[in-house]
Formats: sequence, structure tokens, C-alpha cells
Amino acid sequence: MLIDCKSIAKSIDEETLSLIQKASVKPRLVSISVKPDQGTISYLRSQQKKAQSLGIEYEMINIDDEVQLEESLLRTSQDESVHGIFVSHPLPPNFDEIKIAHLIEANKDIEGRNPLNMGRLVYGMEDFAPCTATAVVRILTSVTNLTGKSVVVIGRSTTVGLPTSIMLLRRDRSATVTVCHSKTKDIPQITKNADVIVVAVGKACFLTPEMVRDNSVVVDVGINVVDGKIVGDSDISVQQKALVTPVPGGVGVVTTSILMNRVVKNALRGGKN
Ligand SMILES: NC(=O)c1ccc[n+]([C@@H]2O[C@H](COP(=O)([O-])OP(=O)(O)OC[C@H]3O[C@@H](n4cnc5c(N)ncnc54)[C@H](OP(=O)(O)O)[C@@H]3O)[C@@H](O)[C@H]2O)c1
Repeated sequence: MLIDCKSIAKSIDEETLSLIQKASVKPRLVSISVKPDQGTISYLRSQQKKAQSLGIEYEMINIDDEVQLEESLLRTSQDESVHGIFVSHPLPPNFDEIKIAHLIEANKDIEGRNPLNMGRLVYGMEDFAPCTATAVVRILTSVTNLTGKSVVVIGRSTTVGLPTSIMLLRRDRSATVTVCHSKTKDIPQITKNADVIVVAVGKACFLTPEMVRDNSVVVDVGINVVDGKIVGDSDISVQQKALVTPVPGGVGVVTTSILMNRVVKNALRGGKN
């Protein structure tokens, strides 16, 4: 069975459209990427399409090196016409991720990379929480009550796994969270007992039916390109046992809608947090 993520995205878009009517300036998003791979390019295209459909100005910048990235961040952070700055992750391994995160003006940091916003997240303040993690939580709360549920998050990136696990622990959700990563031993043994699995690994068919309990919920964050097609981290046959988000048309569409909603809310706030 599949979770209808498109209808979740639609309701977020409806809110965004009604907020845009109240904005005195045209909301503007700048999306910066460094040597994007195919999965990132597909995500950026969907951002552009969504921005156009909602009436948000969208600028895409492709960068080759770290100095250019720093210059772009300084320029866009100071530019008053910019209401949201997005930087694609993961960055190349030789880049100083924390230095770059500091350069994103915290009040335009719609993807929650700046350490100030990461810290706010720990205190349960989610206005600038990473959008993918926000999408995961939004999807889960629309299909289940998380309180006391056993949730296994596979992946611990600062973009997805880590913020998702922090958000799931917030007292109004109170899931019991286990985080797995590449050094975790016997992941199938852990996932088999889970009510909910969030898989954010970046490996096609990583999650197989043997790893999943009957009638559990699976949120598939992965975006992988196999034979020119976009697929998730969950094997297609998992859908026969669990309630699963599709790929494409799942977490990605909700994430993009949340991103745009943030830009508009930020434009309405006048870029103040
Ligand atoms: N739908 C969306 O909106 C959206 C947004 C962002 C990303 N994504 C997709 O989500 C996936 C994950 O993205 P990311 O940015 O989190 O990637 P990432 O930074 O590469 O992190 C991958 C995580 O998976 C873990 N991992 C790798 N191999 C593993 C294994 N064999 N067993 C268990 N854990 C393993 C890694 O563990 P270690 O920490 O130990 O290395 C790491 O924590 C990618 O496919 C990406 O394209 C989708």
C-alpha cells in the first residue's frame, strides 16, 4: 500500500498560495548546488517547477569550488530581495561544511543548516528545521500517532537522519527512536521490530521485505537513479507488507512544498526569525 503524499503536498501548496496573496513583495528563493549528481539535478528541477507554479521567483546557481560558494552565500545573505537560500547536500568531502553553514544567513536559512537553526531544533523550534526531515514528520503524523511507537531511522546525515530523529523525539510526538548507520550491526534484526522505518541511505533496494514487519509504515527518503529511472531505498515489494511512501512522488514532493511554504512565510516575516 502506498501513502498519498501528493495530497499532503497539495494541502501545503494551498496554504502557500493563500499566504502569497498577503505578501507585499515577490518571494524569492536562491538554490545553490556544487557539481550536482543526477538525483540532485532531478530535485532541483522539481524545486524550479514548483516555484514557478506557485509564483515564487527562483534562481538556480551552479558552483564549481568552495571560494565561489562562499562568495555566493555572502552575496545572497546580504541581498534583501532574497527570502530563502538553499544549498544542496551532501557537499564535496573536501568542503568545510560547518564554515559554509555559518555563512548562510540564519533568517534565510530555509533548509536549517546554520548551527543556530540546528540548535533551535534541539529546543523544539522547527520554523527552520531541515525541509526533508519536516516532510518525513508531516507524512508520518498524517498516517499514524507516533507516541510510544518504535521508529527506526536508517541514516544519520545532518540533512535527513539526524534532524528527523530529533524531531520524532519532541514531546508532542514522543516516538521511541533508534538511529542506524553504516557501522550498525544487524540492521534487519532492529527494523523487524519497528512500527515505523525511515530509510535515508541512498542505496536502491536497501530495505527488503524480510526487514519489515507486517502493517508497519515505511518512509522512503532515498533518491537513486537506476537505468535512468528514479527509485527509492526501499524495494518495491515492501509495499505488499507495509504502508510505504512512493518514489518518485513521495517524500520529495512534500519536501519541495514545505521548502516553498518556508520561503513565503519568510517573505511575510520580512526575513526576521
Ligand atoms: N526526498 C528528498 O526530499 C530527499 C532530500 C535529501 C536527500 N534525499 C535522498 O536521501 C538519501 C539519503 O540522503 P542523505 O543526504 O542523508 O545522504 P548521506 O549524507 O550520504 O547519508 C547517508 C546515510 O546512510 C548511512 N548508510 C550508508 N550506507 C549504509 C548501510 N549499508 N547501512 C546503514 N546505513 C548506511 C550513512 O551512514 P554513516 O553516517 O555511517 O556514513 C549515512 O548516515 C539519498 O538518496 C538522497 O538523495 C532525498
